Amino acid sequence: GYDAGPYVPEGAGLRGLRDAAAGCRGCPLYREATQTVFGTGDTSARMLLVGEQPGDQEDRQGRPFVGPAGGVLDRALGEAGIDPEGTYVTNAVKHFKFEPARRGKRRIHKAPDLKEIRACKPWLAEELRLVAPEVVVALGATAGKTLFGSSFRVGKQRGLALPLPALDGSGEGEGTLVATIHPSAVLRAGDEERAAMYAGLVADLKVAARLLC
Ligand code: URA
Repeated sequence: GYDAGPYVPEGAGLRGLRDAAAGCRGCPLYREATQTVFGTGDTSARMLLVGEQPGDQEDRQGRPFVGPAGGVLDRALGEAGIDPEGTYVTNAVKHFKFEPARRGKRRIHKAPDLKEIRACKPWLAEELRLVAPEVVVALGATAGKTLFGSSFRVGKQRGLALPLPALDGSGEGEGTLVATIHPSAVLRAGDEERAAMYAGLVADLKVAARLLC
């Protein structure tokens, strides 16, 4: 099966992990993507945020959340009183999955499937171990399921301070998990719902911010 495990160097720091992740072939997503998008930010951050997977801009630039969703996220973090510079930001899946648009050069994001999410988990597990944040924020269902298991439902569990499970399924990890919607959901929302969805994102991020007080 797909597995990034054999590509993860033992005893490496974040720098070594990032270099190794650039050559990951643990699942087929590397074939079409431009590059691996590893986590970035403050490597001793007290808050670590997990998205789904890089989008078009992230794939081109090699950094997470630098596209439109990142704009929403940065603004929401600011409103919640969180300095984005003080966080570490990464994704559940490290390669962009897409299909070409019928016409033109646009690339349409495709949700990663369970096999790819599972395959990529060793990278996230190492990021969590090395950054050792006090608070982990799951942005959307994919991040929530990756960190909490397939029974996770954003609608039910968002905005709550939950004990962070160990990523290897061995029981409780250290730290607190707060889940919220994915910032892309705000962008996709219709005019009627957008403001309320954004406010909900900010409210959930405030729950995470308060844990660090
Ligand atoms: N959406 C994500 O989940 N992650 C990114 O890095 C960008 C968009």
